[in-house]
Amino acid sequence: MEKKEVAKTSEAEIAVHWKEEDLYYPSTKFIAQANLTDESVYDRFSLENFPECFKEYADLLDWYKYWDTTLDTSDAPCWKWFVGGKINACYNCVDRHLEKNKNKTAIHWVPELENERIQHLTYQELYVRVNEFAALLQDFAGLKAGDRVTLHLPMVAELPITMLACARLGIIHSEVFGGFSGNSCADRIVDSGSNVLITIDGYYRGGKLLDHKANADIAVEKAEKDGQTVDKVLIWQRYPGKNSSPTPMVDGRDYFVNDLLKDYRGKRIDPVPMPADAPLFLMYTSGTTGKPKGCQHSTGGYLAYVTGTSKYIQDIHPEDVYWCMADIGWITGHSYIVYGPLALCASSVIFEGVPTYPDPGRAWRIAEELDVNIFHTAPTAIRALRKVGPDEPAKYNYHFKHMTTVGEPIEPEVWKWYYNVVGKGEAVIVDTWWQTENGGFLCSTVPGMKAMKPGSAGPGVPGIHPIIYDDDGNVVPAGARKAGNICIQNPWPGQFQTIWGDRDRFVSTYFARYCKNEKSKDWRDWPYLAGDAAMLADDGYYRILGRIDDVINVSGHRLGTKELESASLDVIEVAEAAVVPVADEIRGMVPDLYVSLKPGYDPSPELAAKISQSLCDSIGKIARPRKVWIVPDMPKTRSGKIMRRILAAISNNKDVGDTMTLANPDIVDDIKKISQDMIEELKESKKALMKE
Ligand code: WTA
Repeated sequence: MEKKEVAKTSEAEIAVHWKEEDLYYPSTKFIAQANLTDESVYDRFSLENFPECFKEYADLLDWYKYWDTTLDTSDAPCWKWFVGGKINACYNCVDRHLEKNKNKTAIHWVPELENERIQHLTYQELYVRVNEFAALLQDFAGLKAGDRVTLHLPMVAELPITMLACARLGIIHSEVFGGFSGNSCADRIVDSGSNVLITIDGYYRGGKLLDHKANADIAVEKAEKDGQTVDKVLIWQRYPGKNSSPTPMVDGRDYFVNDLLKDYRGKRIDPVPMPADAPLFLMYTSGTTGKPKGCQHSTGGYLAYVTGTSKYIQDIHPEDVYWCMADIGWITGHSYIVYGPLALCASSVIFEGVPTYPDPGRAWRIAEELDVNIFHTAPTAIRALRKVGPDEPAKYNYHFKHMTTVGEPIEPEVWKWYYNVVGKGEAVIVDTWWQTENGGFLCSTVPGMKAMKPGSAGPGVPGIHPIIYDDDGNVVPAGARKAGNICIQNPWPGQFQTIWGDRDRFVSTYFARYCKNEKSKDWRDWPYLAGDAAMLADDGYYRILGRIDDVINVSGHRLGTKELESASLDVIEVAEAAVVPVADEIRGMVPDLYVSLKPGYDPSPELAAKISQSLCDSIGKIARPRKVWIVPDMPKTRSGKIMRRILAAISNNKDVGDTMTLANPDIVDDIKKISQDMIEELKESKKALMKE
């Protein structure tokens, strides 16, 4: 296997100058109630006790049949966990709680409109609704174990209901983030080979009722063109019994779920005992090449891992009210809104809308009303909440015992605001580093046991053994004050099994870089490359610096630069495109798009707007560039490669460095001039505004 050149990360330079932060300690009150305070856990989960240590997590679940092999490495590096075991994820998240807790709230659903009351679904109600919908999926949609079905649902209770109904039957769900466009949804329908799409007529976002059904039409049409027929579109209703979308229904293809459900009232479907290594779901994520990767997650291993980490890292007890503000359309929502918390019989909050709408106090009113005590969000949301309402949390009577940050590195200043103002100095914080591919947390402090360090994720969680390699494969030791490529030495049960339909890409992306022997069936030879740069401090805490590949982390979500570039090439006038990350106060990183035009076309603000809109249409609003720069040509190497480093320097007002190796060094000044003109333009329009 050829070793790929790994991009150097500019963050590495920053890291060297990074100062060590002071430690913060959990309160005795927190420690007294914590699920895990026993230091011996690190011995129990040491590499000597691997892989059997993970039985401890699997034992948190109910199995139809125990496994014979804890870790099967015969198809390295496609690891299989708990082989021979039989389990059902829906049973573990719903049925098994009924005997003692059927009357307990499973889901608090918070509509965005404040004049609509919060809905509280008990475990019994969840059981009924999941069963009825499972019956519909089986009898009406004709779906069975192993089939894939695409979901394009926003933050409504029907999303976990749909996921759990699939899990009950062993159907592999593939949920596409609701904010993604119909086109993005189509690509995922095609890749997964789904012939059923489950969606909703509309939902609220920022005070507007969005027409979501329109996206389904776009998705189905594009999927058909790309060779995948969707014969049924099942549509939930934002207001049951009423159609909230102006988009017409397609006869014989589109069905309102609520109409169909009348035939399934009272139906019960036995959970299907699934092999532990049967896929539970696909979750698509961006990678270095254009096509999103369908991360395939297993049933037994995944559920064991998210349940274990929800218990010990999220410190969830059944009596907690737990609010993870992520979207279920991302991995965080799958693992830490739905599967982990429900497996532990917690009450999980699902919020439809924007946390700063209609005003900066909204999130804290929800926390107060539901008496939430565990809160989980991302730095991008924390920065936004701090910006619009730095003093809001103090006005509301809520008390968190525990808070999580996830999705991107958090600046120590932002961390301290989160700790002092949102957490009121009472809550512990875990900074959990992991990825779509991983199923659950990789690095984090165990909250009742370890001190917190602002900006650092912490050590590997029990059973995860990270290691940092430099580009030559040497280990970068603790305290070296040097960044390198963070890898995980060992497999773990939450790890994805493969990329759906593309095993070669799975091996080359994640394992080829540091594989010691490509024929080996021994897991020790296959370190997992996460694709992030990281540093290890003397005390064993990891600080994650960001991606080393062509992925931009916008508001904690990965966007492939190639995906954005190829989407902008769909605009007829565009000849070449390059996307670079720009630092942003709220969203962490945002894309800047550079394009050059085909001969015969002239730059104009209208064209720039059209290109920007086209990115939103093909990928979703999350991809909207900060700025579209229409440039006469791209800076290129003599072999014709676009020098993104130079464009990134211009966008971030940094020194462009040496340009003499370029084939066209003069272009750099031309582009800088355009940037200067743009700044002047911005200043002018600001002045004009001030006058008004
Ligand atoms: C970044 C989200 C620093 C990282 C769960 C990773 C983080 C990518 C953290 C995965 C964190 C996630 N500190 N960086 N606590 N958590 N990241 O797949 O670059 O959407 O590779 O999974 O987000 O993003 P993904």
